[in-house]
Amino acid sequence: MDNIPRERYGHFAEHLGRCIHEGIWVGEDSDIPHTRGLRNDVVAALKKLSIPGLRWPGGCFADEYHWQDGIGPRNKRRPMINNHWGGVVESNQFGTHEFMDLVETLGCDAYIAGNVGSGTVREMQEWVEYLTANVDSAMVQLRRTNGRKEPWRVRYFGVGNENWICGGKMRPEFYADEYRRYQTCVRHHQPDRPIYRIACGASEDDFRWTEVVMERAADYMDGLSFHFYTIPTDDWEDKGSATGFAPEQWSAAFRRATRMDELLTKHSAIMDRFDPEKRVGLIVDEWGIWHNVEPGTNPRFLYQQNTLRDALVAAQTLHIFHRHRERVRMANIAQTVNVLQAMILTEGPRMLCTPTYHVFEMMKVHQDSTFLPIALSSSDETASAADDLLLLDASASRDSDGRVHLSVINFDPDRSHDASITFLAADAAGKSVAGRILTGETCDANNTFDDPKCVMPRDFTPDPISETGQLTLQLPARSIALISIS
Ligand code: AHR
Repeated sequence: MDNIPRERYGHFAEHLGRCIHEGIWVGEDSDIPHTRGLRNDVVAALKKLSIPGLRWPGGCFADEYHWQDGIGPRNKRRPMINNHWGGVVESNQFGTHEFMDLVETLGCDAYIAGNVGSGTVREMQEWVEYLTANVDSAMVQLRRTNGRKEPWRVRYFGVGNENWICGGKMRPEFYADEYRRYQTCVRHHQPDRPIYRIACGASEDDFRWTEVVMERAADYMDGLSFHFYTIPTDDWEDKGSATGFAPEQWSAAFRRATRMDELLTKHSAIMDRFDPEKRVGLIVDEWGIWHNVEPGTNPRFLYQQNTLRDALVAAQTLHIFHRHRERVRMANIAQTVNVLQAMILTEGPRMLCTPTYHVFEMMKVHQDSTFLPIALSSSDETASAADDLLLLDASASRDSDGRVHLSVINFDPDRSHDASITFLAADAAGKSVAGRILTGETCDANNTFDDPKCVMPRDFTPDPISETGQLTLQLPARSIALISIS
């Protein structure tokens, strides 16, 4: 498969901290400008990312979420305790209708994660019916009473989340059997638009989980999830600070992020044994860089600043997904607003786009393009030196209009490098090039509410491509460039 499916540029929004409440949903009585309770500024910024799909309601929250608590008149909705994320009260003001309003507003696919850990088969079956059926059943009548006549389209449905830990502490053997039972009730009420069923997969190097679940349940799934977070210190107890980090934490982040490549290769190899046709997609539905929370914030709200280092980790990881195009069908960065590697941060009525947002905005041109093999080299001696610092990385694609897009990263924190790219399969010679670059004054350059445009893409115009089809870029230290050739 030479396509770079747009689904790899997907997102994830959980009822966690200030992601949904404040970040996306302010409610209809808010002074913050909104449309039917959805923040206008956040929605407008997200629209510019051409988000392909959005996963909701969790995360760990999914396995304690009871969807019927989040429908009907808002003043009658049943508040609950969000046990995983700080024990705060979840008001259920944002539920199925509000989420589907959001995805329809964004023009993206819905990826709903169902409750296996504390739910029932009947509850899941009725949710799918409520969402997608169009007959006179009790669930459909209920949906109509709640103001939605036509069924929605739900493209992806996850059967549980991290069921080896927060989703029920299950063994893979038990989960595989549960998966088979639950997925039976994820029915295709719209035969021309079947739901893509996703089983809970492994985290990091839990290869046994992948093996057991594939062996016992591969025939009943379309996708198998996988979670991997980049922790620069490699220590879950002290993940390090998002800003003001020590110089060695710069390269440590990229080294750790590289593990995504190795882990995808290994999990894919296991899947190949049970599914040599590669029918089942590997769904990386949680990934991103995870730091200590910002000082003074609720430790369970997972609110972190976002710097140039995070942006380059995002670009690096998206490149890895480009390379794993045979097995990885979808990926969802965690999380959209105010949580972990967020696209957007908010503070009351103020919002800012993070450096990671700008990477997703710049690189969206790769979505649904055709992967192009390239050769990357540098004449700079230090670029080929055998140290442990990853220096350059690049990925290219051709879109449906024939334009070639190239993203190139210079990981060197201190020095610029020349990057020579030879297009192996493209007729690029002599064509004009234009682009943008994202960099910053320091390794931890970031955007704040007082200076929200500190890290922003700016124009970058390299020399034209040579007769021999070679493009040479002088990339500033710690930068990512997106070049378009037409
Ligand atoms: O994204 C934050 C949490 O990380 C999710 O809720 C959970 O699935 C994972 O452990």
